[in-house]
Amino acid sequence: MILSIESSCDDSSIAITDIKSKRLIFHKKISQELQHSVYGGVVPELAARLHVEALPKILQECKGYFPKLKAIAVTNAPGLSVTLMEGVTMAKALSLSLNIPLIAVNHLKGHIYSLFIEKETVFPVTILLVSGGHTQLIEAKSLDDMKILGSTLDDSFGESFDKVAKMMNLGYPGGPIVQEKALNGDENRFDFPVPLRQSPNIEFSYSGLKNAVRLQIEKLEEDELEEKDICDICASFEKTAVAHIMQKVKKLLKKNSAFGNFAIVGGASANIRLRGEIEALCQKHKMKLFLSELKYCSDNAAMIGRVAIEQFENKDFTSIEDIDVQTRLKGF
Ligand code: KG4
Ligand code: ZN
Repeated sequence: MILSIESSCDDSSIAITDIKSKRLIFHKKISQELQHSVYGGVVPELAARLHVEALPKILQECKGYFPKLKAIAVTNAPGLSVTLMEGVTMAKALSLSLNIPLIAVNHLKGHIYSLFIEKETVFPVTILLVSGGHTQLIEAKSLDDMKILGSTLDDSFGESFDKVAKMMNLGYPGGPIVQEKALNGDENRFDFPVPLRQSPNIEFSYSGLKNAVRLQIEKLEEDELEEKDICDICASFEKTAVAHIMQKVKKLLKKNSAFGNFAIVGGASANIRLRGEIEALCQKHKMKLFLSELKYCSDNAAMIGRVAIEQFENKDFTSIEDIDVQTRLKGF
């Protein structure tokens, strides 16, 4: 079995996965959403402190499995350096004391492998990764052959939901809150511009849309922001944010640069509107759509464990001295 640890942002999670059967034996996650909610976003130092409390608590429950462990896996990049450090420090200590190898896992590959938890892999696949830190279109042929086709130039899709929620003091994480408000709103009340509409490039941008929403809120606040205004802003914003993704995915399909398999991964892949529109597009283009189970969309250690099985089989280990944490990664 492999024990995997995830602490790249505000979720403390540990999983144990059986190498041969790929079965998830144990999986627990303690989220910090409530603690960060008052700040309207994740406060890195607070997140790190909460990992220090939560990770040992979860580990305590795994002790019975220690004699069966063959490796320790941990997310080492990309993410918040202070929070990644907590997971990596625990992983190093476990690797040393149990005398088993250490596996460093790329968090983004983790999101991709959330599709394959307790399942076989499916390649090649074109992937839309939407999270709090990333918005990317990826061409994945295998674990070691992944190419970023396009990324965001500034904010990410999930982050833009967080920021819009923060502007109206709706709480954190903004994604589910804005989605909920949008259900009761008029998506045609505000005409926000779809970003990079004219650009032929496969790239994303959310800062302009965020500013357009901010200006609209300021205008409405001259009177007072009512519940109906909030719902209408959320609906109009969500429509535009998803339209931007859809335009770029359609551009990619036009270039004939997508495989017959398409997937959406990452915390923001829980967005119902995005799922629905991508589903319709896949049907139209006769592409098979793969989605992670909702419980595995946001950050979790089960997806890290699933990647680790492959790395274990490839003997892709890292030494305790060499493992480092990285905030950003240029490619895969
Ligand atoms: O993958 P994840 O758990 O963490 C990162 O690796 O960033 O993604 C969290 C992000 C947050 O920005 C959150 O607001 C967003 O995913 N999110 C959503 C939805 N659910 C979560 N965004 C839009 N719609 C949702 N339903
Ligand atoms: Zn993530």
